[in-house]
Amino acid sequence: MTAEQAQQRIEFLTGELNRHNHLYYVDSAPEISDREFDLLMEELQHLEQQFPQFADSGSPTNRVGGEVTREFRQVKHRYPMMSLANTYSEDDLRDFDERVRKLLPGEEIEYICELKYDGVAITLAYLNGILTQAITRGDGEKGDDVLANVKTIRSIPIKLKQGDFPADFEMRGEIVMPRSEFERLNREKENVGEQGFANPRNAASGSLKMQDSAEVSKRGLDCLLYYLLSDELPYSSHYENLSKAREWGFKVPNYMAKCSSIEDIFEFINAWDAGRDELPYDIDGIVIKVNSYAQQQKLGATAKSPRWAIAYKFKAKQASPKLLSISYQVGRTGAVTPVANLTPVLLAGTVVKRASLHNADVIAKLDVRIGDTVIVEKGGEIIPKIIEVDLSKRSEGGQSVAFITHCPECGTALVRQEGEAAWYCPNESGCAPQIKGKIEHFISRKAMNIDSLGEGKVEILFDNGLIRNVADIYMLSKEKMLGIEKKYEDEETGKERVVRFREKTVENILNGIEASKNIPFSQVLFAIGIRYVGETVASRLARHLRTIDAIISATKEELLTVEEVGEKIAESLLSWLAVDENRLLIQRLRDSGLKMEYGDEGVKQVSNTLEGKSFVVSGVFSISRDDIKKMIEEHGGRNVGSISSKTDYLLAGDNMGPEKRKKATKLNVPVISEDEFRQMIG
Ligand code: IVH
Repeated sequence: MTAEQAQQRIEFLTGELNRHNHLYYVDSAPEISDREFDLLMEELQHLEQQFPQFADSGSPTNRVGGEVTREFRQVKHRYPMMSLANTYSEDDLRDFDERVRKLLPGEEIEYICELKYDGVAITLAYLNGILTQAITRGDGEKGDDVLANVKTIRSIPIKLKQGDFPADFEMRGEIVMPRSEFERLNREKENVGEQGFANPRNAASGSLKMQDSAEVSKRGLDCLLYYLLSDELPYSSHYENLSKAREWGFKVPNYMAKCSSIEDIFEFINAWDAGRDELPYDIDGIVIKVNSYAQQQKLGATAKSPRWAIAYKFKAKQASPKLLSISYQVGRTGAVTPVANLTPVLLAGTVVKRASLHNADVIAKLDVRIGDTVIVEKGGEIIPKIIEVDLSKRSEGGQSVAFITHCPECGTALVRQEGEAAWYCPNESGCAPQIKGKIEHFISRKAMNIDSLGEGKVEILFDNGLIRNVADIYMLSKEKMLGIEKKYEDEETGKERVVRFREKTVENILNGIEASKNIPFSQVLFAIGIRYVGETVASRLARHLRTIDAIISATKEELLTVEEVGEKIAESLLSWLAVDENRLLIQRLRDSGLKMEYGDEGVKQVSNTLEGKSFVVSGVFSISRDDIKKMIEEHGGRNVGSISSKTDYLLAGDNMGPEKRKKATKLNVPVISEDEFRQMIG
C-alpha cells in the first residue's frame, strides 16, 4: 500500500468509525454488528501504527485509551462554570417565575424544562471541530483537563463531521454512569473484595479521575449535553442552539419541553418524578431555564448562579420497612457504625435491606426499637437512611437498642472522645479492619502509590497471614505469595469464585513495592497514617524538619513552629511517636530502604546563589510563604524553623511578630525584606 492510499484509507475508516459510533452510542440505532465494527477498528489501528504520520488526534482509536495521566493539568475556564440555585419547594418555583416576570415586564416568557442529570459537570472545548480540552468544574474558575479520559467516552464526538458549527465553541454537560454499568462495576468490585461506589455519580467521578485512560474506557461512561457557549452562536435562544448541537453529533437528550406557564412546568416535573426510574441513568431533578438569550442577559446573575435558571430537586423516595436487628461495622479509623437490618422493601428501583444509623446519638434520638416500623429515605447515597420511627405502628414490648460496648471485630472495649459522636475501637494495631484500612491507605495513590496491590489483594494477603502492618509489605516475596487465594461468593449468582495470585500478579506486586522505595519522604510520612497528618501537614513537616529523626526528637514547641501544625496535630504526632511499636515500625521501613529524609522533592535547582545560607521566613508576603520557601530552595538555600545564632537571615514579611525581630537583633541575624530577598536572587 502506498502512503497516499494509506492516508485515504485512514480518512475513510476514521469517518466510518465515527459515524458508527454515533449511530450506536447516541442514536441507539446501529447499522453494523459489533464484530464488523471491531474489524474496522483493528484495520485503522494497524494502519496508524504503520503510517504514524497520518494518525490524527481525533482518531476513534483514542477511544480504547492507553494514555496515562500522572497529574491532571489545571486549566482556567474561558466562561466560568456557575452553579444553579436549587429548590425542593413548589412555592420557590412560583417565586422564581414571579421574579422573572417582574424583571421583564410585559414580555412573553418561554421556559425550557430539562432533566437534571446526576453526574459530573464537564466542559468540552472544540476548535475547528476537534475536541481539544475537557475540563472538570473544579472551583468554577479553573478545573482539571481530563481530555485523555473523556476521549474514551463513545458518545462524545472527538471530531465533528463537516457542519455549520462555530470555529471555536464549548459544550457543557454531565458525565454520567448508567445504572446498569454502575451495578456491573460494583458487582465486579465486590467479587474481588473491594468496596463498591456509593452511587453512580461517585462512580462517574471516580472513573473520570483515573490515571489510566484504558481503564476509563471500560467504565461505560456516557455524556449528556445541556449548554452551548461561543462568541458566534448560531441562534439567539437556548433550545434552538441545543437542537443545532444535536445535529452536529452531540448527545442532547430529547426530553426537553418548552413551557410558557408555571402549570406546564409542574406537569413536566410530576411526569418525570414518576417516570425517572425508567431512564437508564439517574436524574435528581428538573432544570428550568429562560429560553431567550436577550432575556437571560437582562436577568443577569448573582455572584454564584444565573437568575434565568433554577433547579427543582426531587424529594427523596421513602419506604416503611420493619427494623429486624442492628449490626455494627468497624471502619478503617476504628469508628463503629451501626447498621439497621430491615425487612426488604422496594425503594427507587432497588431492594433495600439495610440502612445506616450513623452513630449512637442518632439511635438515641430516633428512640428506635427492634420491631419498629421505620421510614427510610434514599437521598444521593446508595445506602438509605432511617429518618423516623412510625410510632402509630409501634407494638408493645419492642426492645430498645443499647449501643455495643465492645468491638465486634476484636472484643476491645470501645471509647468515645469528648465532643465526638462516634465510638471507637482503640485497638489500632490489632483490629482487622483497622489494620487493613491502614495498609490500604499506605498503598494509595497519594501515599506510596503501589496500585498493583489494590484493596482486594490486601485482603487476601491479610487473610493468608502475610501482612499485619505496613512494614510487612516489604517482607513479601515471590515464594510467599505465589498461589495464595481467597474464595468469594458472588452475591448475585451465589456461585463460588476463587481469586488466586498467579505469576504475573506477584511480579506486578513486587515491582510496585520496589518502585515505592523512590517515593519522596513527605509522601512516606503521609503514608504512615498518623491521625491528622494529612498530605499537606506531612509535606510541611518534611520540608521544615527534613529528617524522620528530627521529627522523632522534636519537642512540642518545635512542632508548633511548622506551618499548619497546631496543638491537635502536634499532640497526635507526639503520642503516636511515644509508642515503641510505632518507632519500631519506622525503623523497619527505614531498613527496607524507604526514604526517611527530605530530598529535593519537586524543587528545580535554578541557581546556587544562596548555597550554604539558612533562612527563617516569617510574616505575610506578596506570594504564599510556601512559595517563598520554595524559592529559597530553588536557589540553593535552606529553610530552618527557628532563629539561632547560626541562622544567616530572617526574611521578614508584613505582620511579623515583634519577638522574632527582637531575637534576630539580639543574635545579630540580619533581617531582610521580600524586596531585598528578591534582589539577592536577582
Ligand atoms: S445548566 C449556568 N442544565 O447541575 C447554567 N445544569 O448547579 C449551568 N446539571 O453541576 C447549568 N443537568 O452540571 C444545567 N440540564 C442541565 C443540567 C445541569 C445537570 C448540573 C450541572 C451543575 C449542576 C447545577
